[in-house]
Amino acid sequence: MPDLKSPLKIKKIELRNRLVMPPMAMNLATKDGEVTEKLVEHYRERAKHTGMIIVEHSYVDPGGKLSERQLGIYKDDLIPGLTKIAEAIKGEGCVACIQITHAGGSCNKDITGKTSVSASKDWYKDKEVKELTLEEMEEIKNKFTQAARRAKEAGFQAVEVHGAHGFLLNQFASPLTNRREDKYGSSLESRLKYPMEVVEKVKQYTEDMLLMYRMGACDDRGDGFTLEDAQIFGKKLESAGVNIIDVSGGFCGSRPEGKDEQGYYVHFAERVKEAVSVPVIGVGGIVEPEFADKIVKEDRVDLAAVGRGLLKDPEWGAEFLS
Ligand SMILES: Cc1cc2nc3c(=O)[nH]c(=O)nc-3n(C[C@H](O)[C@H](O)[C@H](O)COP(=O)(O)O)c2cc1C
Repeated sequence: MPDLKSPLKIKKIELRNRLVMPPMAMNLATKDGEVTEKLVEHYRERAKHTGMIIVEHSYVDPGGKLSERQLGIYKDDLIPGLTKIAEAIKGEGCVACIQITHAGGSCNKDITGKTSVSASKDWYKDKEVKELTLEEMEEIKNKFTQAARRAKEAGFQAVEVHGAHGFLLNQFASPLTNRREDKYGSSLESRLKYPMEVVEKVKQYTEDMLLMYRMGACDDRGDGFTLEDAQIFGKKLESAGVNIIDVSGGFCGSRPEGKDEQGYYVHFAERVKEAVSVPVIGVGGIVEPEFADKIVKEDRVDLAAVGRGLLKDPEWGAEFLS
């Protein structure tokens, strides 16, 4: 039975252990989304003993940018900077992944200069949000695809499509935000159609890379996306060729208030893992390496992600893994 120290080989890529640093926005990029030396060093420092680092959410389109100093992956000029991050991570023997995103209805005009877009508009009461047309959906799909190409050209070994925490692809999957009356709305099958199309399209650049999906596995409310939905979605992602499913929250967010127990979203990951045979990442409030080791040993998850632990202490888990 594997434990936290066990390597994991998927396709031709080997992770030296099961400790993952999940994506965490540092807001250290320039206003145009360019990489800074500070950001490179931030990742280098945390790559010394972790198995994989998933670089923070990088916007595929200026219209999908969430915060002022967010990292960008929306134009080719950004590739040299992104290459520096990928090289810093790989240079320490860690697998380099980058998360690609569009924040959809969560965006603000102050940042993007544009009206925000989403699957539908009704959910957003306090700002103007426009329902995407089919043509615009196609454009955004292409932007995700081009972002994956840039990730590959920058030397990343894996790319993670962001489908959690209430951002654009999550807005399509969840019945809370998707009220569309066309073929992309209503039934679960229809709501998953757009995220699946993005995955299928991104795949054209990931043959030699790992393709990952961060799933908002549950909205934690009766009228939202459920863990049963997540199991169906997981199977679809696996059939489409996704290599790792990174399981987090949907509209309940990544760090819900009051959920302080260690491994608070591990049970979401366990439920997805029951339905699929590809590796699954579990996350949420892990503070002890022994806990991360235990959930891998007990086969509840294949990989354990530790975010704030590694932010506070770049050496988190190093002694345990040595
Ligand atoms: C400062 C910060 C920024 C984050 N940014 C992202 C992000 O860019 N993409 C994402 O999917 N999750 C993001 N998250 C959520 C983390 O990936 C992780 O799921 C969450 O922090 C729970 O793990 P932890 O308890 O080990 O920190 C962020 C979390 C923090 C603390």
